[in-house]
Amino acid sequence: MAYENILVETHGKVGVIVLNRPKALNALSKGLTRELAQALDSFEANDDIGAIVLTGSEKAFAAGADIKEMASKSYMDVYMEDFITVDWERASTCRKPVIAAVSGYALGGGCELAMMCDFILAAENAKFGQPEITIGTMPGAGGSQRLTRFVGKSKAMEMCLTGRMMDAAEAERAGLVSRVVPVDDLKDEAIKTASKIADLSLPVVMMTKEAVNRAFETTLGEGLRFERRLFHSTFATEDQKEGMAAFVEKRQPDFKNK
Ligand code: HXC
Repeated sequence: MAYENILVETHGKVGVIVLNRPKALNALSKGLTRELAQALDSFEANDDIGAIVLTGSEKAFAAGADIKEMASKSYMDVYMEDFITVDWERASTCRKPVIAAVSGYALGGGCELAMMCDFILAAENAKFGQPEITIGTMPGAGGSQRLTRFVGKSKAMEMCLTGRMMDAAEAERAGLVSRVVPVDDLKDEAIKTASKIADLSLPVVMMTKEAVNRAFETTLGEGLRFERRLFHSTFATEDQKEGMAAFVEKRQPDFKNK
């Protein structure tokens, strides 16, 4: 498929999506988000892909929703088209793991998109922020909700109310990102991490992802019961038999995604 706003690559079992609107710092236009959703659909449907990396350029993961495209929209426009719902949310509904590899700016919708992924690897130059308030609007794709769950109320509130950016070191301390790596290593490190996941049992990876995500949405008791049911169900897979047999036999497992 020919895309105009993204690049799509495969590295073994890893699908890589590179946001590619350099002139607009990867601002998330309608065209870009449509293509992003299509690329995620296609990797999700591809049995040869076990994990996905979403990244941008060195200067910007994404500088937010496209302000020029949004500026003149009316309330009726955004309400009737359900602005930012369908394509934007695709990253959060993908059943395969999606790693955000963030270098440079991840602002507004860009920060929100990164937070929709399963975890964020940051380059040392990464900058996260929710500056919508400085242009007369507010987060609309989860910034006020996901950021608060990631970094707590005080930091999230300050960022959403002032638009202050957080650098990579602060983001790591606050728990927004899983790790910080040198800029030049970011893509390789993300692909290496995704490959490690893609070599595991896909059904068990998907169940694990579901269980961790459930922690954001439910009580501890319900979450623990959900986890226990999924844990039990891994024993119905051939991959659990293979994984444990390989450990006992001191060899590498050969998972079949069954
Ligand atoms: C459209 C954008 C853009 C954006 C940058 N550009 N961000 N175009 N939408 N969000 C364009 C600029 O207009 C410019 O194009 C080019 O990219 C380079 O940007 P500069 O500003 O010249 O670069 P620099 O001086 O390095 O500053 C970088 C920056 C700044 C600090 C990231 O661009 C910036 O503040 N951008 C906006 C960030 C923001 O407010 N994001 C939140 C958007 S609202 P031209 O052709 O003019 O030179 C949002 C809503 C989310 O995300 C809610 C629902 C999803």
